[in-house]
Order: sequence, then structure tokens, then C-alpha cells
Amino acid sequence: MKILVLGQGAREHAIVKALVRTGTAATDIIAAPGNAGIALDVRCEPGLNPNMPLDVVKFALEHKTELVIIGPEAPLIAGVSDALRSEGIAVFGPSQAAAQLEGSKSFAKEVMAAAGVPTGMARECTTIEEVVDAMDEFGAPYVIKADGLAAGKGVIVTSDRDAAIDHAMKFISMGILVEEFLDGQEVSLFFLSDGHSVLPLTPAQDFKRAFDNDEGPNTGGMGAYSPLPWLPEGFVEEVEEKVALPTVQEMARLGAPFVGLLYCGLIITKRGIRVIEFNARFGDPETQVVLRRLNSSLSNLLYKASTGHLEGVSDPEFTKDVAITVVLASEGYPETSAPNRPIYGIGDAEAQGVEVCHASTEKKVDDNRDALTKEDGKESLIATGGRVLSVVATGKDFAGARAQAYAGIEKIHLQGAHYRKDIAAKVSEPRVAN
Ligand code: AMP
Ligand code: GLY
Repeated sequence: MKILVLGQGAREHAIVKALVRTGTAATDIIAAPGNAGIALDVRCEPGLNPNMPLDVVKFALEHKTELVIIGPEAPLIAGVSDALRSEGIAVFGPSQAAAQLEGSKSFAKEVMAAAGVPTGMARECTTIEEVVDAMDEFGAPYVIKADGLAAGKGVIVTSDRDAAIDHAMKFISMGILVEEFLDGQEVSLFFLSDGHSVLPLTPAQDFKRAFDNDEGPNTGGMGAYSPLPWLPEGFVEEVEEKVALPTVQEMARLGAPFVGLLYCGLIITKRGIRVIEFNARFGDPETQVVLRRLNSSLSNLLYKASTGHLEGVSDPEFTKDVAITVVLASEGYPETSAPNRPIYGIGDAEAQGVEVCHASTEKKVDDNRDALTKEDGKESLIATGGRVLSVVATGKDFAGARAQAYAGIEKIHLQGAHYRKDIAAKVSEPRVAN
């Protein structure tokens, strides 16, 4: 099956690796724009902008693409799925309208209310006075959310009243959601959806804070692990029944069927499961561990979902082996961006048995090189900021997988880079909430 993967992060690299591992020929995959790491595995098309619907359609038609997999949210919001679908091309990724489940937190709350999905109480606010009233109603810690896409920076959870109000002022033009604070363990659980039926993948936990012991600012995610041995029996079935299926059914009822990946961001509170957010795409870095454990054919599952034929497909199979991923971030992430810097040692890391999924890397050709002697040594890899890569390790148990992941990441050299040392350090019991 000829597949086009849109995106350029470690998530897309993990998708590409999982496609190949579960049976798709590497020569049948193109990634656009891709990155320096993805280009080592499959053909990349750096010139194709994944957010331009007409360009993507033209490229997909020219290359006889049978399935387009959309990684990030931006192409969804830009309507790339709609454009592809209207040309009859199978696409794994919801329409612009259905992607509002991620794009608008107030829309997601309305859908949850209509579908009876358990979530935190929230107030929609358009003025700072309303924000302050809602803060007083719910009390501290305050949870303030920008009501739109804010590159992972839209949410603050703080007991500092001034910081909460400052955050609200920054995003008030988008609208603000003030939510009750929910205390408990966070779990990410992905479902494939064909618009009416859903199939669960396997639970993972993300480490959102920048530093060890869940300290520091929220990030896109600094690491993840799967499975979660401390989850109660029947958890996946409960989320399917109470969250994923009613949400997908409500979206169909609204005339905006959700075809793609429904990312359920959950908190397990003393009063039961609560949804804290939906995303309309695979999570990053959870995908790196979830798909690393997948044994079933990924292309088959995504194609079935994209073409409305999930019903009757058996649940995807996952290895019992555990997987962990540790993210290497550039200096200053998430608050400041670092200059482009060379990165070394990825081959040495891979020699430790880890898989390296690239995010912000580029190949740089030394301008002074002799055009006739195109030795590889003259090309260097540079990190372009943000989250740079994800190191993924598997093992029979977490102690082994952790040892391998950290042995790998220690081989990588990037000036000023940082990573968390406590990913999956305690997996026999839930991590203490921050
Ligand atoms: P979101 O982008 O909505 O997932 O929020 C980012 C992070 O803020 C989540 O992963 C949680 O760690 C935290 N968070 C969001 N909503 C709540 C809430 N109602 N109570 C406690 N923490 C929350
Ligand atoms: N890791 C969180 C996300 O992908 O949104």
C-alpha cells in the first residue's frame, strides 16, 4: 500500500518505523516534509508543506497514494483531510470540523456534556472578571486553559493567583476555560475511529513537566512508558464505553464524524475517570512507546479506520514487553529556543540497542566540501531546537528498558541539552500527582 505520512516530528518517525516493522515496505512510504532521521528510513519530501491542502492533494494523486496518515494537528485544522477525502483518497485524520474536538476546548466540553462523558466542571470566560469569578468558585489550585491551539502552552495549573490571572490575560482573546482541579493519575489512551466504531490501542503515561519529580513548566512531553502495570482491571473497556464510543457517536450525530485517532487524556480521580482533554491525533511522545509495542499491521488498522471498516476488526495486538522513551530537549526548552547546534553520537546510542526517533534535526552539508568527494563525513547533523529526539527502549521489564534507554541517551552529545532521569522510575505504583 502506498502511504504518505505528513509531519516532521518524533511521532511521525515512530509511525514510519512502526509501519515498516509491521509489514509495510519502506519503499512504499513517503514522509512530508519529514526530517533528517526519517530520511534514513524512507523517502522524504522536504518541499511539500503539509498544511497546504491543494499541494498535498496534488502530491498524493501524482504518487498514487492509497493512504495518507496525518501526524500533527495543524494540517487537520487547515482542512487537509477534507481536501483529500473529496478526491477519494483514504486519509487517517479527522475533518476540519471534527478536529475541533482538539482545536476548541469549549466545543470538546459541549460534546462531552451532550454525550454524558465524565469530565471536570468548567466555565467558559471571555473577560478577566469572569475568569476571576470562576477561580473563586472552584478555588485553588487554579486550572486556566486557553480555548484554542496554543502549541502546548495554553494551560496553567497553579495555586498562585497572580500567575493564573496573568496567564488568562495572555490568552483572553481566544477565550478562556477555567476548570476545577482534578487530582489523580494521568493516562493517555488512544482509540482508532472510523466514524462509528472505535478500537483501543494500549495505555501509556506521559511526563509533561520539564524536570525530574514533575517539576518545572509543562512541555509537549518529556518521556513516556507503556504498559501501566498499576491500572485497574477493565480500565480500557471502561474508557471505551464511557468516553470514546459516546464521543464518536455524538460527533456522528452532529454531522462531523470523527475518523482518525481520538486521543483521550484522562485523570483517574477518587470519583472515577475524568477526561482532561481530547486530541485529534497521535500523542507525542506516547506514540513512540505505544506503536513500539504494536504487533498488528499498522497500515491495515489505519486503512480500515480511514475507509469506515473498523467493525469486526479484532483488537490490535501488543507485545508484553515494556517500552519507554526519553526525550532529549534542547537548551532552554520549553521556555527559550536554542540556536542550531551540532549533535553527535546517535549511531553510538543505537549501538546500545535503542531506537532513535528524530524530531528537530537537519542534515547540514559543509559548504567547503569538495563537490567531487561527497563523503558522508562532511555532512553533519544539527539540532534545530525544541524537543530534538526521542530515545526508545524495550525490555522484559522496566529496569532493563530504563537501563538501555539511559545507556543510549548518554551517548548523545548536544551542547546544553537536557532530559529527565526519572522516566518510568516508579511503575509498580502510580506516580505521585504534581
Ligand atoms: P491539557 O492541555 O488540557 O491536557 O492540559 C495540560 C496538562 O495540565 C495536563 O496534562 C494536566 O497535567 C494538567 N491539567 C489539565 N487540566 C487539569 C485539571 N482539570 N486538573 C488538574 N490538572 C490538569
Ligand atoms: N504528549 C501530549 C500530546 O501529544 O499532546
